[in-house]
Amino acid sequence: MDECVLKIESVVKVFPGVTALKDAHLEIKKGEVHAICGENGAGKSTLMKIVAGAQPYTSGHMYVDGSEVVFHSTRDAEKQGIAMIYQEFNMVPELTVAENMYLGRLPQKAGGAVDWAKLYRDADAVLGRLKLNIGSRTRVKHLSVAESQMTEIAKCLTIGARIIIMDEPTAALTEEEIKILFDTIQDLKQRGISIIYISHRMDEIFQIADRLTVFRDGRYIATKNIRETNYREVVSMMVGRSVDTLYPRREYRRGELVFEARNICGKGVYDVSIDLHRGEILGISGLMGSGAIELSKMIYGALPMESGAIFVNGKKIDCSDPNRAIAGGIGFVSDDRKKEGLVLGRSIRENVTLSSLKKFTRGIRLDQEKELKHVREKIDRLRIKVSGPFQLAGKLSGGNQQKVVFAKVLETDTPVLILDEPTRGVDVGAKAEIYRIMDQMTRQGKSIILISTDLPEMIGMSDRVIVMREGRRILELSKEELSQEKLLAYESGGIEE
Ligand SMILES: Nc1ncnc2c1ncn2[C@@H]1O[C@H](COP(=O)(O)OP(=O)(O)OP(=O)(O)O)[C@@H](O)[C@H]1O
Ligand SMILES: [Mg+2]
Repeated sequence: MDECVLKIESVVKVFPGVTALKDAHLEIKKGEVHAICGENGAGKSTLMKIVAGAQPYTSGHMYVDGSEVVFHSTRDAEKQGIAMIYQEFNMVPELTVAENMYLGRLPQKAGGAVDWAKLYRDADAVLGRLKLNIGSRTRVKHLSVAESQMTEIAKCLTIGARIIIMDEPTAALTEEEIKILFDTIQDLKQRGISIIYISHRMDEIFQIADRLTVFRDGRYIATKNIRETNYREVVSMMVGRSVDTLYPRREYRRGELVFEARNICGKGVYDVSIDLHRGEILGISGLMGSGAIELSKMIYGALPMESGAIFVNGKKIDCSDPNRAIAGGIGFVSDDRKKEGLVLGRSIRENVTLSSLKKFTRGIRLDQEKELKHVREKIDRLRIKVSGPFQLAGKLSGGNQQKVVFAKVLETDTPVLILDEPTRGVDVGAKAEIYRIMDQMTRQGKSIILISTDLPEMIGMSDRVIVMREGRRILELSKEELSQEKLLAYESGGIEE
């Protein structure tokens, strides 16, 4: 177990204007799950792209099995058995699972024609080895996010990977799918494959990792055995200070009714009604396909509603598109920041104030000073790691992009907020700050609907939770009744209501 398969020494990476890695070290042993921890912008993804040959580095050394290597492409890294699974998947949706697994390496018959029979036979064998129930002839566009991810893992095996890098693999998975992923990881370990695992979910790291390495601000901080450290220590190494309470103490007492969704029907949602009170945080919980996300999107106008009505403060509002929903009093953080949350080619400043410019306009003039003051304040408060308000959103690390999306919703002044996965990919320090802000906003009279696959977050923040399954509202749980086991059991239909 103690064989060192990969060693990284003093790696430095300079981008124009930013030094992403100042002094990175890392040692990976054969057959271990090694977690990489660090705040948003600490340099985790940058280092992993370097290891996978996807990005050049400025200086430093890398060794595989004790010999120094220099990668010029992902192909070079793959030859050494290193493969990376990206968050934005790299597969061709129109092709089948098997074609994607062997892309660029399709088996050939003598004479050069593709040997289709062998392709599907080989693919089935690899999928079977991973005990995956995915048809090798299915087109990738028909797969769920989890299945695409499993296909990527299967692909890593076909290139003979010995080190597989997973960058926030569970960010888009439900609790059930995470279990499947973890079983697969155990299986890979048994085969002597090492996994480098990046996640902001500390509970996962303590569940799955053997060791972890912490980075802060592009620098190596420490490597620890998971059994010889604890949550508090890891968090304080990550943020350089201690973060005591993640969830604020809620003091919600039921206020008047502010929001009502009546008999909502649409694709995947059947006759669901919910109500929300002043100052309340209402959780809507469900597995993928439960309709929770779809319902929330119908409310903020990103998905069409077939029938039903939505009321804010007793007035029926038009939710046929997101701008109308905002005008009607419904602000939102979308779970899909690339599609509905953020304009990557625009600056942070524009992204934050885009839907609230009215606030900064006097007559027809935009009060730029006021606007910038607001943006700077958000950057400080959420500790968004940027060079300034004019930096392009697309150049930020994943978690920092998510913080910008949250900053934007803070600027839109609506009585109701819908937060779909608000802390996806966000580091613990900023999570605590986002939770504190949510608590503060509700104390000032705003009401929040929270949709999250992060069950500790759902339980830690909600005053009440509605469980959905197969498009229907199944039951409601009060804060006192909430537990992780109960939620999972109701969501999956393990217990009947
Ligand atoms: N292509 C790029 N151009 C300029 N700066 C970049 C680029 N890619 C990353 N950076 C910067 O490098 C730093 C490290 O980013 P990186 O994506 O490695 O962080 P991370 O640790 O993965 O964060 P997160 O947890 O948010 O994903 C950040 O300050 C980021 O803005
Ligand atoms: Mg990252």
